[in-house]
Amino acid sequence: MAKSKFVYTCNQCGYESSKWNGKCPSCGAWNSFEEELADTVSAGGNASSGSTHDLLDSILELADIGADNDVRYDTGLGELNRVLGGGLVKGSLVLLGGEPGIGKSTLLLQICQYLGEEHAVLYVSGEESARQIKLRAKRLGVDTENLYILTANDAEAVAATIAGSNIDIVIIDSIQTMSISRISSSPGSLTQVRECTNLFMRTAKSEEVPVIIVGHINKDGAIAGPKVMEHIVDAVLYFEGERHQSYRLLRAVKNRFGSTNEIGVFEMLDKGLAEVANPSQMLLSGRPHNVSGTCVACVMEGSRPILAEVQALAAKTSYAAPRRMATGFDFNRLNIIIAVLEKRLGVFMGSLDVYLNIVGGFRLDEPAADLPVAMSLYSGIMDKEIDEELVAFGEIGLGGEIRSVSHASQRIKEAERMGFRRAVIPKQCMSGLDKDSYDIELIPVSDLKQAFAVIR
Ligand code: TYD
Ligand code: MG
Repeated sequence: MAKSKFVYTCNQCGYESSKWNGKCPSCGAWNSFEEELADTVSAGGNASSGSTHDLLDSILELADIGADNDVRYDTGLGELNRVLGGGLVKGSLVLLGGEPGIGKSTLLLQICQYLGEEHAVLYVSGEESARQIKLRAKRLGVDTENLYILTANDAEAVAATIAGSNIDIVIIDSIQTMSISRISSSPGSLTQVRECTNLFMRTAKSEEVPVIIVGHINKDGAIAGPKVMEHIVDAVLYFEGERHQSYRLLRAVKNRFGSTNEIGVFEMLDKGLAEVANPSQMLLSGRPHNVSGTCVACVMEGSRPILAEVQALAAKTSYAAPRRMATGFDFNRLNIIIAVLEKRLGVFMGSLDVYLNIVGGFRLDEPAADLPVAMSLYSGIMDKEIDEELVAFGEIGLGGEIRSVSHASQRIKEAERMGFRRAVIPKQCMSGLDKDSYDIELIPVSDLKQAFAVIR
């Protein structure tokens, strides 16, 4: 009789191997292999049964397929709707990932109040007792009659319950506490997480019920078994933020029903999460006055312009090699900008430690943030203040030139709305702008020298 065989699977990328590896040959992760019984690996897999004729019969003409618009449920939170692409799609499986304690359960319990006005919502918790959930709901002001709580860990029983009930929306908190008893590995293991996700995917599709799954992120910043889960689900949202700061960002990293560029901004208050409709205001609050080394940037987050403060500090180094640090900005990008400043403008920083910080824990990933970063650096090194009512955006080329960026008009309008009086913008952007429509002074620049001339 053949012995039962083991398969080893990388919990980072899903790579399978017949032997254990210290380092994954596919993604390079260390100590990421988990042992699984070979026959459980195919459990739940769709073994193709039936003849090819069955499949021939099921080929459809595109024109014949009914395409009613997606049915979307309004969650009552505009910020969440936006990230979802306009609401929660019927029959979709959404993964909400984030570090423990960031506010995933709070967010989901909160939307139950609004969803519960018209739909029956089932909140399945494997983490908290029904009493704990009740206490939290009370604190959050959730008292809808349409919210049903189920504390359970058996994924198959939960799926069967969903199928046998008239529930409209399901929340699973969290996938790491769910397990399928047939599978021997422990809850939270790669196999369990994958098979439970597959199971809920089938339930979501067959019952046409949207299912939101909570997934905890491990210390490396990845959801346990991240790749395998991300492949299966329809949308992956990450809830992020600094624990000691009150606001939280919700980002989509995958969305089959919308764009992945949008972000939602929330603030954690004592009565739960509140939407932040005006993130620029929040990010700019508490700006210092009459200080050199700070400049306001205008970046696009999806379709929304956001203003954020860039701070730079250059201090004489006491190390053999000067230190470079960037918080909220790409480290390599900072080094490129420093090199451009040294080579093209002769601003030498070889003997200076350079620290760059984006205020409020926000991340600027867009090339348009180059110019404000360079300006804050220059301002800091020269100890010359930048006008408080000035905002800047533009990409820096290696020749020291300022290159155009998209959505110039929207950025300028946002700066205007927030009370700024002057905007340093790439010269090339000017051609697409109706100059008379702004109540703000536009300063077009084509290279860094011109931009720095603005700093007096
Ligand atoms: P929680 O939603 O339990 O996090 P997760 O489900 O992602 O693990 O959030 C818990 C944190 O939120 C906890 O540190 C307390 C804080 N919190 C508030 O500040 N205000 C509130 O109204 C609630 C319910 C939680
Ligand atoms: Mg929780």
